[in-house]
Amino acid sequence: MKPKKSCLKCPVCDTELYVVEQMNLYKCDQNHAFDRAKEGYVNLLLSHKKKSKNPGDSQEMVVSRQSFLAKGFYEPISDEINKTVKAYFKSVAKTPETFLDLGCGEGYYLKRLIQSLEHAQTAYYGLDISKSAVKLASKNHKEAHWIVANSFFTPFSDHSLSGILSVFSPIDMSECKRMLKEDGVLIRVFPETNHLMQLKEVIYPEIKVKEYEQYLNDLEGLEVVSVKNVAYDITLKNEDLVQLLLMTPHFWRVKEENKIALLKMDTIVVTVSVSIGVYQQSKGRL
Ligand SMILES: C[S@@+](CC[C@H](N)C(=O)[O-])C[C@H]1O[C@@H](n2cnc3c(N)ncnc32)[C@H](O)[C@@H]1O
Ligand SMILES: [Zn+2]
Repeated sequence: MKPKKSCLKCPVCDTELYVVEQMNLYKCDQNHAFDRAKEGYVNLLLSHKKKSKNPGDSQEMVVSRQSFLAKGFYEPISDEINKTVKAYFKSVAKTPETFLDLGCGEGYYLKRLIQSLEHAQTAYYGLDISKSAVKLASKNHKEAHWIVANSFFTPFSDHSLSGILSVFSPIDMSECKRMLKEDGVLIRVFPETNHLMQLKEVIYPEIKVKEYEQYLNDLEGLEVVSVKNVAYDITLKNEDLVQLLLMTPHFWRVKEENKIALLKMDTIVVTVSVSIGVYQQSKGRL
């Protein structure tokens, strides 16, 4: 049987990567081969390109995020992402052929997107540098292809993707531009200054106000189509608070006494405030 074409390229030699279903592996013409793990994911991160043994979010962070997200606290964000993706493809009168969640974590947003789009013809991919995250994603969600790789040097071919989603994850705009098709779209979710502010007020003696303009400028040849803010309050019980803290980088930065103050709280009302940016290839700059 002929191997199936994919939109992936070999991380060793950059030539096209094929899926050989009957052998459960990905292979290029130069015979570089990458096994599919028993959970279904493929690891395309070369060990000499890793900066640490286990890059990305740890198992503990991933499991905390999964428990927190399962309670629905970020469901309005996911619903708005799904609405945005649907509206975009309706506006260009196309069905996405290929769609990637970049920095997908354990797959919460991609899973809900697949359910909401019902596009059986679309090939869905989730990519994260954390093996723990991708392992969990592929165990739980069989409807997508899961890949361990680096967002800054992805194994996707040039102009191979109809859509890219990035939620709270590090991203390289020029790499996104390279991967996107001519009429492809990048949907990027980023936190606003007041996101989780009440939590930050307890754990940091001084809050640094971040400049989020970078999300709207410095686009490396992509242009902003629209930006929509999603904001609402959530009430967290102590257990939720612990999970939220563990799933974010805050936990590792906070001083012990501030951590204790937070962990003593029974409940806290916290503002969720994010923006969803839609970006396209700039005309004539592919
Ligand atoms: C804040 S989490 C967001 C995860 C998921 N999008 C969500 O919102 O549930 C950031 C994710 O980016 C991943 N990450 C960090 N650096 C990365 C890189 N260079 N390439 C790919 N993923 C990376 C982490 O492992 C983590 O899963
Ligand atoms: Zn190769």
